[in-house]
Amino acid sequence: MKRVLYPGSFDPFTIGHYDLVERACKLFDEVIVGVAVNPGKNPLFTLQERADLIAKSCEAFSNVKVISFEGLLVDTVPKLQVDAVLRGLRAFSDFEYELQMALTNRSMLASCETIFMMPNANTSFISSHMVKEIAFLKGKFEPYVPAVVADAIHQKLGF
Ligand code: PNS
Repeated sequence: MKRVLYPGSFDPFTIGHYDLVERACKLFDEVIVGVAVNPGKNPLFTLQERADLIAKSCEAFSNVKVISFEGLLVDTVPKLQVDAVLRGLRAFSDFEYELQMALTNRSMLASCETIFMMPNANTSFISSHMVKEIAFLKGKFEPYVPAVVADAIHQKLGF
């Protein structure tokens, strides 16, 4: 049984995240999407709202589980008994931050391996940050997120 943890802020979950989950589902017996608190970010959705939206977006996958966690990733990894941590690499610009995070996590927990997967090129320019900016400015953000997330953003922003 191979299990992977895909952590992130997912504020909100985009079709790029969805693409990565779909790919991971084919490689792992269980994919655990872990919604985390990123202390450097001020989220639009609560932890619970984000977890619920991911669960709804991914209900077609039988091997996906969604959790939320607070505190360090390396404290959550052993509790979930995952074989690896999964992160998406969209572009070269992601690499420095991801490398730093992967090596820091492994320095704190030697068994914590991070693997990277590339999303579909059609989605690799999408980021949660851009989605929120477009939505705040009342632009057309809907193509970049699952339908349930688009509805939730409309509700949250009141339009
Ligand atoms: O989607 P993001 O914001 O790029 O995800 C970053 C995240 C949430 C995976 C990272 O900030 C994280 O692991 N947070 C948990 C706290 C932690 O372990 N921080 C140290 C990371 S080296």
